[in-house]
Amino acid sequence: MSNIDHLIWGVTTAAAQTEGGFNADGRGLSIWDTFTNKPKSIKDKSNNQVATNFYERYREDIDLSVKIGLKIFRFSISWSRVLPNGSGVINEKGIAFYNKVIDYCIEVGIEPWITTYHWDLPQKLQDKGGWKNRDIITDYENYIKVLKLYFVDRVKNWILINEAIVCIGAGYFLGIHAPGKRGIKSFSASIHHILLAQARGYRVLKGKKDIKIGTAISCTKIESHSKRKKDLRAASRIDALMNRLCIEPYIGLGYPENELPLVKRIKRFVQQGDMEEMKVDFDFWGIQTYAREVVKSAWYIPYLGSIPVKPSKRKAPVSIMGWETYPDGIQYFLERFSIYDSEKPLWLTECGMALSEKEDDAKRIEYYTHIIEGMKKVSDQEINLKGILLWTLVDNFEWAEGYIPKFGIIGMDKITLNRKMKKTAFWLKDYLSNRSG
Ligand code: BGC
Repeated sequence: MSNIDHLIWGVTTAAAQTEGGFNADGRGLSIWDTFTNKPKSIKDKSNNQVATNFYERYREDIDLSVKIGLKIFRFSISWSRVLPNGSGVINEKGIAFYNKVIDYCIEVGIEPWITTYHWDLPQKLQDKGGWKNRDIITDYENYIKVLKLYFVDRVKNWILINEAIVCIGAGYFLGIHAPGKRGIKSFSASIHHILLAQARGYRVLKGKKDIKIGTAISCTKIESHSKRKKDLRAASRIDALMNRLCIEPYIGLGYPENELPLVKRIKRFVQQGDMEEMKVDFDFWGIQTYAREVVKSAWYIPYLGSIPVKPSKRKAPVSIMGWETYPDGIQYFLERFSIYDSEKPLWLTECGMALSEKEDDAKRIEYYTHIIEGMKKVSDQEINLKGILLWTLVDNFEWAEGYIPKFGIIGMDKITLNRKMKKTAFWLKDYLSNRSG
């Protein structure tokens, strides 16, 4: 078996899922503050006003990451903490908070990585249409200029947009995430704008030589329910939507219109020069994968013509998220993305397993062991894998699922918010300290 001891291990977190401090020190509201107030929006009727209180406990979480042996601490910036109105006046106290996080990481020897957008749009921008309104591209560009001004001297690795397809699919198509919008028009406009904004953001940051700029791509293994032509076509449609739409325009391949008829709707929002502007050569691609979906053709479903076959109906294990956790996706997507470009640096910027409160954490160790095996299998191939960031450190606010699924390698007491390392954290600490690299 190959040696993968050189791979760098770290952890990914996100502001809306951890920070809390929703109205502390001049922070403006985000779409998640509004969304969680709507009845029935969150499964356990919770909200993220306190979350894991990373806002006050960031030192402890960074210390724990170091103790486990992790080398990268990826966190996201809450746009409305820095710019309470989304644009205009800068909230110096918000900047001060992120300076403290960055400086503390550096002080204790873990590298800070920034995600600029992990789904928490300022409500003030949503009031103007959010990602549906083309003006957002300029707002995002200006926001990135602010982040560059304050943080680029110390933060060398940046991820611009986290999982555009999930953020826009769930928030502007299905309405199950903030801001709760639905419909094809809302989706088509928003997806184009967020992808174009990301290209703009890249150009803002690119001026600096010593920094690396990437994107985090949601990857879901899609399989056809049968070998029938119409099911195979349905699978290739969903695959194009989930795994190609948000990467191919940057490589210059455009939107995957042959497989995905929905692209016609997106094209209504494409203006002259957009596709050219979209061609940016990210310094790395971040692959994020959790699940496998099996789909079959369904003529009555508008635009997509397909439905998922539930894991229970195909005798697959189902996680508390309702999906089939699929660690083999790691190997599959690393191989697949290397076909686009075998030299491109790849990071697994998220992978993780959701367990219920009652499930034994040993299952998570099994999952990560499986992932290590997958990474070993690809290490002999021409794949430029750099490292892996786990999802996630501390059990947190899992969006519309509230606090029910537990993705953390560290548990948290509901009342005291005290942290406690789980079996996986101890196992990982051993694994990392016994490596030769
Ligand atoms: C997201 C995280 C989320 C995780 C598990 C990823 O797609 O980036 O924010 O918690 O999936 O659902």
